[in-house]
Formats: sequence, structure tokens, C-alpha cells
Amino acid sequence: MPEDNDNPYLVSCSAPVNIAVIKYWGKRDEDLILPINSSLSVTLHQDQLKTTTTVAVSRLFKEDRLWLNGKEEDITHPRLQSCLREIRRLARKRRNDGNPDSAGLSHKVHICSVNNFPTAAGLASSAAGFACLVYSLAQAFGVEGDLSGIARQGSGSACRSMYGGFVEWKMGSREDGKDSVAQQVEPESHWPELRILVLVASAKRKPIGSTSGMQTSVQTSLLLKHRAESVVPRRMDEMTEAIRRKDFPAFAELTMKDSNQFHASCLDTYPPIFYLSSVSQQVIHLVHRYNRHYGETRVAYSFDAGPNAVIFTSQQHVPEFVQVVQHFFPPDANGEDFIKGLPVTDAVLSEELKQAVGLEPMPKGINYIISTKAGPGPRVISDPSQHLLSSDGFPK
Ligand code: DP6
Repeated sequence: MPEDNDNPYLVSCSAPVNIAVIKYWGKRDEDLILPINSSLSVTLHQDQLKTTTTVAVSRLFKEDRLWLNGKEEDITHPRLQSCLREIRRLARKRRNDGNPDSAGLSHKVHICSVNNFPTAAGLASSAAGFACLVYSLAQAFGVEGDLSGIARQGSGSACRSMYGGFVEWKMGSREDGKDSVAQQVEPESHWPELRILVLVASAKRKPIGSTSGMQTSVQTSLLLKHRAESVVPRRMDEMTEAIRRKDFPAFAELTMKDSNQFHASCLDTYPPIFYLSSVSQQVIHLVHRYNRHYGETRVAYSFDAGPNAVIFTSQQHVPEFVQVVQHFFPPDANGEDFIKGLPVTDAVLSEELKQAVGLEPMPKGINYIISTKAGPGPRVISDPSQHLLSSDGFPK
């Protein structure tokens, strides 16, 4: 950060959400957040889903403070502390190496962060949140280079949000975790026809969180152990190949099988964990029947630790598939827009296709669809009017 004076130094950044197509589930080290298997994800476009964070650094601040979506949060949370400590450590190292810019090292920070999507949507926000926090702190303290190992210590999946496009988190083998980092497999421009639809399911209960869920799975599931040791290593290679070749059927099949095996490991956990709802199951049937009708894999689903489906398909199939979803999950007629995000053109559904899917419609099972695509990694926001903190370093 530049010259010391009484005005806080402000920097704002944004970071994306990612969705794993080879899932991370289980840690070998809880403190460093080291996984039992590698994973691979697609970074979603920030035009639809992102976290924005402003960091202010000032010698006048008495303590580090944090506001999330308008509410002050406890900054002593160990994972937040890990991220702050690691960035400050790198900044100190940089100064000791003779770089001038780290004036604010002894100063406290104010952090303010918001999501552009409703928390009620049940979309995992911790990945984008920690990625954005780490990226913004690094900008504020002039730290450069790969920061995925620090984001990982905020939330495992956050390390993958440090890059755009298709991203691999290598599990690594070192005890200190230095080789457990994210790497871009292909940039977002690699597969322009690929489209992603987030089907936000109506959910009554909040499911058990990933952190404690995966802890119980590691302790009790033999299927998870088998998955980590014998299934994922090969799948990582196959998935990387499918992405490089833009082979949609191969990508889609691996994506669905891996999501299914993750949820099977949850069922194999004792006591079992259920993340899929009746709506999720209906989406699974719908996708398989849709693909069967066409005799090819045109659409794939993936589910994380909740009932929302993330659908992957090619641009050309989006209009019809959205119509199918709308037909079998009739939305609330006077509600808000059913389709948000990238515009979707109209399509006519054939009677043949409706019959081939042949499911009992579930009214209002899906609240809305967010239509998006693969997107870039974290960015600095250069427009100062976008700062979430005022010139005094407090929320606007
Ligand atoms: C099902 O990264 O949220 O979304 O490391 O404990 O913060 P912690 O867990 P988290 O787990 C994500 C689990 C998942 C699969 C994935 O994103 O790979």
C-alpha cells in the first residue's frame, strides 16, 4: 500500500463461485484444510454470482473488524485469523526482502463483504467469500503470486475460486500443505458453448454444513475411503482430458457419476447425511430421461451439500431444457422472474418429449433458475464509487 496518512487505504475486489465436477469431501488435516483427494471445478461467471469485498487499512483503526452482508461478524474466527495471519506473514517477508510497499503492515484492517446473490438461495458462498477476502487483503498489502494455499485455509473449496475457467485443486502430499494448491486447467475462453443453469430448489430445512458433514464421513464411511484412494485419482485424469477435448458426453457422465458418488458417500456416513431432496431426485430423473429421449448425453447435473441442482449443457440445448424444467416444476405464476442471468430464448416443447420425460409435475419445486457460464477469477474493482467502505473506513 502507498504512503502513510490519516485516510485509510481502500481496495475493492470481486471473486467468483465455483462448482466442483470432481468433488472435495473429507480432510486429512483439519487445521491446514488438506483434502483426502484432489478435486476439479468450473468457475462461474461473476456477472451472475460473485462476492465483492472492500479492505481498508489505516493506522487509526484500533482493531481488525469485519462486516458480512451488512452485519458485523466475529473476526476471531480461526479460519479468518489464518487468512489474515498468512497474508501479513507474506507481506512481512516481502518487506524483509527489500520491497518498499508494505507500510501498513502493523496497521489494522476493516473488511466489508457482500454477495450479489441472496443467501436464502442456499448457494455456497464461503468459497467466493474467502477467495475474495484473501485476494483483497493481498492487494491491500502488496502481496503477489499464487494465493490459493491461503484461500484454502479459509475454506477448502475457496482455493479453486482463485482462478477462472476450469480449475484443479491438487491434494498434495506434504504435511505442511505447501503443495495443496489450485491450478488452472483451462481458461474460461476454452469452452464458450458450455452453459450452466443453477436450479434453486425450494428448501425447508438448512442441511448440515460441509465442514462437520465431511468430518463424520471421514470417520465412518468406507465408501469415501475407497473413493479417495481408488476412484478419484483416475477420474481426475479422465475429467482433465474430457475438458481439454471439450468432449461433452464424457464430461457430463463423469460429472454426474461423481456427484452421485459423493451423495452415496453421504448415505454411507453413519449416521447418514441426506442433501438431496425429492426435488433433487426429480431433477436427476428428468435429466436422465431427457438424455435417453435423444439417445445422447446433452445435459448433466451436479449437487453440492444442499438440494440445488447445477446443470451443465451446451448453449444450443438451453432453451428447450429450460422449458422442460418449467413444465415439470410449474413456477408461481405471479412470482418474480423464473429465469435470471443470461437471457434464454423461448422454445416449444413437443408432446413426444413431455411424454418421454413423463414425470408428475411438482409445482413450485424450483424457485428460479440462474443462467450463467464459465467465468474469470478474482479481479480488482478500479471504480472508487464501488467501495463498500467510506473514506473513514466504515460501511457506507
Ligand atoms: C460439497 O469447502 O465448504 O461443495 O473446507 O470445511 O470449508 P470446508 O468445506 P467446503 O466444502 C465443499 C464441499 C462440496 C464439494 C466441493 O466444492 O468440492
